[in-house]
Amino acid sequence: MGPGPSDVDPRVLEAMSRPTIGHLDPAFGGMMEELKGLLRAAFRTENDVTLPISAPGSAGMEACFVNLVEPGDEVVVCRNGVFGDRMRENVERVGATPVLVDDAWGDPVDPAKLEETLRAHPAVRTVAFVQAETSTGVSSDARTLAEVAHAHDALVIVDAVTSLGGTPLETDAWGLDAVYAGSQKCLSCPPGLSPLTLGPAAVDRVRRRRTKPQSWFLDLNLLLGYWDGDGGRSYHHTAPVNALYGLHEALRLLDEEGIENAWARHARHHDLLREGLEGLGLTFVVREDARLPQLNAVAIPAGVDDAEMRHRLLEEHDLEIGAGLGTFAGSVWRIGLMGHASTESNVRRCVEALEVLLGS
Ligand SMILES: Cc1ncc(COP(=O)(O)O)c(C=O)c1O
Repeated sequence: MGPGPSDVDPRVLEAMSRPTIGHLDPAFGGMMEELKGLLRAAFRTENDVTLPISAPGSAGMEACFVNLVEPGDEVVVCRNGVFGDRMRENVERVGATPVLVDDAWGDPVDPAKLEETLRAHPAVRTVAFVQAETSTGVSSDARTLAEVAHAHDALVIVDAVTSLGGTPLETDAWGLDAVYAGSQKCLSCPPGLSPLTLGPAAVDRVRRRRTKPQSWFLDLNLLLGYWDGDGGRSYHHTAPVNALYGLHEALRLLDEEGIENAWARHARHHDLLREGLEGLGLTFVVREDARLPQLNAVAIPAGVDDAEMRHRLLEEHDLEIGAGLGTFAGSVWRIGLMGHASTESNVRRCVEALEVLLGS
């Protein structure tokens, strides 16, 4: 019950243990096509360019910045936690200039601040934000932020590493241009893959770049030569065959449950956890209407030793919860209820263990 990786469904582990076949084998190509279709369903998009990057969520983030941003661009980065700040770092490393929209840790990104910033910086072509800030447990309003960005002719890059499969994300209905996720949160797969989807305006921008992306591995024009089934697959890198079997199976599980049912399950177990934690006198650090059900950030009660409590949870109750990051280090716990781990029995187990330890 940490901030990810979450527990992996046994069916996913079983799929990953199947024999490794060639990554250019026609049977593998068939699985890749199915996988892309399942990813489209999870992202709620018809986007042609929807594929898993062969590396963790950070690579999905980097793929967006190196492909959509060119040296000299001005890019608005909304920063309300660790991962927003990583986006700033990415912007700087591609030789562009970040323009920051800062919100306090634990607060969602403020669309009014974004509007004001875009008015003051008319040259901006890209706005980047994190939909589900895992470092603070806050959810930002991706739909409204995208509307504001589009009104100023900017494309959006959206981090959905923690949201995909756990909370509503509507790539097409909200007009999100580039969205990346991670395999190890609400999809309940082992870490190491980053699903990515690009809408038509983003693809157009990638195709019209003046400069080559500085990353060969993440250059989408090259990657599509392998992932684009229509173009005849050409070797780019050796795809992580068994990891992709796992993602394929995880997405089949999501499809069987129905993504809306998965969202409802995450919301239901969050409510149950909230009741239990509030019953112990614990308080959430994020205001009620912006809380992520899959990542519950609670204030550590005064006088409680953070490291000792997490150590005892692990040793005496076989239960992992997450420490606070950055500004929240030492003062906040992050309790994950992600994917396969978002169950009523996990909620009860966590509340009971905390009750025993906080009472002793
Ligand atoms: C919101 C967010 N973005 C990006 C990342 C980076 O993903 P990874 O650790 O898989 O590289 C994480 C990881 O926790 C995350 O929570």
